[in-house]
Amino acid sequence: MKTVFNVSILAAGLLCAQFALAADCSLSIDSNDAMQFSKDELTVDASCTEVELTLTHSGTMPRNAMGHNWVLTSKADAQAVNQDGMQAGLENDYVKPEDERVIAHTPVIGGGEEATITFSIENLDAGGDYMFFCTFPGHFAMMKGEFRIVNNG
Ligand code: CO
Repeated sequence: MKTVFNVSILAAGLLCAQFALAADCSLSIDSNDAMQFSKDELTVDASCTEVELTLTHSGTMPRNAMGHNWVLTSKADAQAVNQDGMQAGLENDYVKPEDERVIAHTPVIGGGEEATITFSIENLDAGGDYMFFCTFPGHFAMMKGEFRIVNNG
């Protein structure tokens, strides 16, 4: 009986640890038919090895008319990545294929859709200048924000 008891305590502890990790390293952001993201800043802890990001689109317009993606780069690369992305077309989710400046990106989604991606921040700098934006043509000016990696340890 004693052995069984110990094992169940251990299992509960592992479940809690996994839940806490997932909660701290998961991000969500909504987009809409008014060409807006719901947040202009996203923050993750530097201890996250992997970040899970979910992009939703609470509008009703289709992806070829009011599509949105979520693209992460350094601030310095953002303008150029956006320019190249627009030219890459919807068939490439408005991201230039194999673009090494892109740290992470979702596909382009339309109203009622959502996309979840997982990416590593291990090679990024805490306190560095990163930004997220939508590369659907014409959206960059309105749909962008700051991506912050903070040290809470
Ligand atoms: Co957009």
